Amino acid sequence: MAKRMQLQDILYSQGFGTRRVCAGLVQQGWVQIYGDEPGAPPQSCTDALAEFMPEGLRMRVQGQDWPYHAKAYVMLHKPAATECSQKPSTYPSIYTLLPSPLRLRPQKGAVQGVQAVGRLDQDTTGLLLLTDDGQFIHRMSSPRHHVPKVYEVTVKHPLDAHQIERLCQGVVLDDDPKPVRAAACEAVGPLHLRLTLTEGKYHQVKRMLAAVGNRVEALHRSQIGQLRLPDDLAPGQWRWLDAAQLRLIAGA
Ligand code: URA
Repeated sequence: MAKRMQLQDILYSQGFGTRRVCAGLVQQGWVQIYGDEPGAPPQSCTDALAEFMPEGLRMRVQGQDWPYHAKAYVMLHKPAATECSQKPSTYPSIYTLLPSPLRLRPQKGAVQGVQAVGRLDQDTTGLLLLTDDGQFIHRMSSPRHHVPKVYEVTVKHPLDAHQIERLCQGVVLDDDPKPVRAAACEAVGPLHLRLTLTEGKYHQVKRMLAAVGNRVEALHRSQIGQLRLPDDLAPGQWRWLDAAQLRLIAGA
């Protein structure tokens, strides 16, 4: 059964810093709580030990609305020229696009933060999922869990029917004799291809196109499972995923 929690502990669980820092935020008036009445302004709470039911709690912390999430699941529209690494080598890390509580969420007493579910290349744009749910990352990355991912591909040379056929029937990449094939492949223009993959090998789209004698000029992931990147999520923006969107991804 869900338990009431002290406000300082709730803030700590959401990544707002140590319990001491969180208590300070509350005592200094930086935390407000929304009531049940729709549209009503949030009320300040300066008692760090005040207890609330965390599930469904909507807070405003340092002027930013922050709904409580036991686990964080977010989507990010990854812009080009960013790296999916905590320690990037050339471009800024995608993690700098997230607010610090998402990066500082604790797990088993240590700062853990959300992690990307798989990676996109530096120059690839589009839908990226991040979470602090290790089991979800494991499930999504398991080779047995064939979650389809849809890529919009711009190629250098005009596509021909033979290339499309080979992508669907399977091409051999240099690290594995077993052919990899696209689950779906549709030419949407002479230089544009929509490719659905159910595996996630390193540089898979680029290597598959190279294997059929073409070259990827631009790559954008538009969909994971049945979840499409929303049109109104601009590059660099992130958003919480709700339960229905999670079901669209994992098909659960
Ligand atoms: N395939 C690639 O080649 N690059 C990506 O970023 C994703 C899939």
